[in-house]
Amino acid sequence: METTIVTVVGASGTLGSHIVEALLERGARVRAMVRATSDRTKLEALGVTDFVVADLNDPASLQRAMTAEPRARAVIASAAGFSAHSARTKGDNSRTDTEGYRNLVDATKSAGVARVVLISILECDKAIEVPHFYQKFQTEKYLAEKRQPYLSLRAGAFLDRAKDIVPDRVRKGCFPDILPGVPMALVYSRDLARYAAQAALDVPASALNQSVDIGCDTPATGAMVAAAFTRVLGRPVVAKRVFPRIFFTVMPPLVRFMPRLRDSLAVVAWLRKGGYVSRDTQKQKTLFGELPTIEETVARYCQDKGLV
Ligand SMILES: NC(=O)c1ccc[n+]([C@@H]2O[C@H](COP(=O)([O-])OP(=O)(O)OC[C@H]3O[C@@H](n4cnc5c(N)ncnc54)[C@H](OP(=O)(O)O)[C@@H]3O)[C@@H](O)[C@H]2O)c1
Repeated sequence: METTIVTVVGASGTLGSHIVEALLERGARVRAMVRATSDRTKLEALGVTDFVVADLNDPASLQRAMTAEPRARAVIASAAGFSAHSARTKGDNSRTDTEGYRNLVDATKSAGVARVVLISILECDKAIEVPHFYQKFQTEKYLAEKRQPYLSLRAGAFLDRAKDIVPDRVRKGCFPDILPGVPMALVYSRDLARYAAQAALDVPASALNQSVDIGCDTPATGAMVAAAFTRVLGRPVVAKRVFPRIFFTVMPPLVRFMPRLRDSLAVVAWLRKGGYVSRDTQKQKTLFGELPTIEETVARYCQDKGLV
């Protein structure tokens, strides 16, 4: 039987490299779409040899990547213009989430890609005031409008961040709590990567063309996550407020001329409203199995990070 080829866009990112691993574990062949400036070290260490160089802001390069032979069956789109990782890497990231994603949809459609798995964001359709959240919804709409078969995985907040500060803090007995008291859907990026690989390889075509909320079985506050760390590690871990209360009053006028910080603040303000939760957990259960508990999620994270 021929090995299925899956192209991963944003393969050099945090989630992207986990998606590559999950695909390889399921026996797929991975084609990593990277930029000329991307660091390929992690991917090469995983055994990836099939690279296509393209930039979401360069339609011609995308066309070449999507028509590379032998053709890929699916494309998983995990790239992000707005992220701590992308802020550190070279290139113009400002257009990536907007025109870049439209370019990608145009290229997959014209190449006849059988399915696109979009890594999206929970409740993105309601987050008008957060540009890079709402843009995910615009991409979902564009996929539908272009009749490009897709599955959108609308993920909650990653337990592990691009620059993951959690392990160091947990070793010192605290969990960084960005929004004390606000329950949010929580996802371990390796679980999301596994769902993305399943979506590319195993989900039936009849289940495509919809968005699926992705999270744990219940929304979690920072205190609940800290309690899960305490139980898993058998030593006290307490939630520790990251921003002083006054931060939300003094910052807004100061960030008017700082677009990145302004967007970050818009994210936090939006999250504080408490809407970053899965509305429909049934779809995730039907497609990917029982939802993990917060404790199971934290236990896997601790195992992978060498905390136990
Ligand atoms: N963090 C969260 O809590 C969260 C929650 C829900 C959903 N998500 C979504 O999860 C996805 C992955 O996030 P992440 O934190 O793992 O991402 P990340 O580490 O920031 O990686 C971003 C990736 O996008 C690539 N990229 C950026 N601009 C590009 C362009 N113009 N052309 C081609 N590639 C480009 C980067 O390539 P280089 O290496 O060349 O820079 C990198 O591989 C994102 O779509 C994000 O919106 C995140």
